[in-house]
Amino acid sequence: MSTDTGIHAPSRARLPVSSLRTDRWWVPQVLTIVGLSIFVIYATTRIFLQRDYWVAEYNYLTPFYSPCMSVACVEGSAHFGRFLPDHSLIPYAAISMPILLLFRLTCYYYRKAYYRSFWLAPPACAVPEPHERYTGETRFPLILQNLHRYFFYFAAAIVVINTYDMLLAFRTADGEFGLGLGNVILLVNVIMLWAYTLSCHSCRHVMGGRLKNFSKNPVRYWMWTKISALNTRHMEFAWISLGTLMLVDLYVMLVASGAITDLRFIG
Ligand code: FES
Repeated sequence: MSTDTGIHAPSRARLPVSSLRTDRWWVPQVLTIVGLSIFVIYATTRIFLQRDYWVAEYNYLTPFYSPCMSVACVEGSAHFGRFLPDHSLIPYAAISMPILLLFRLTCYYYRKAYYRSFWLAPPACAVPEPHERYTGETRFPLILQNLHRYFFYFAAAIVVINTYDMLLAFRTADGEFGLGLGNVILLVNVIMLWAYTLSCHSCRHVMGGRLKNFSKNPVRYWMWTKISALNTRHMEFAWISLGTLMLVDLYVMLVASGAITDLRFIG
């Protein structure tokens, strides 16, 4: 490492240790690595499994396959047409999955989380990083993180589709109203997806950004205050929605494969 940058810069105090922190500052970083790794491994496996994603009897569709657009999608599971070629390397939801991946990858919260845990840049407040130079997000490829604001619009559209899937699932294959544990899990997942998406920093900017005078825009001001309140919980929503995504997918997979039967309350 260079001897005149970072904590070694001439203007910095000379300390005998790299950090004076004595708390367990590394715990959140370890949890982040574990949590994100579990999700990435689970989601990748499921997306390429290409089976057990649809329960025809109750119209349950896992969000990992929504919207299902491959010509191989099971009849009834594709609500928006089937036109993607059938190939083991092409996910059935090959349009929504990359968008959602990039939306989360460029999320302000996740950036902080993976910069600290995987990249150690820096590992934590008042803990020096191992890198020689800090260039921020001002050059390629990290400057592309700025595209997050555009991914927000596409991600919101996909949550609308997830909401549509969830509502369809209240109708059984016979066309009757039905309610099972799967409906409850699908509903909770959609609520958490909305909470995560609407609490996005870009959404907050869409609501109240670039305004010179809040009093002349009372509706946008009202929406901005609501989104700002949600925004304070963005980190929680980011993690909870990852959990509900895996939970709903696991439940649909187990019911679709016949490993368990759906707990029915009505219909
Ligand atoms: Fe996290 Fe936009 S800042 S989704």
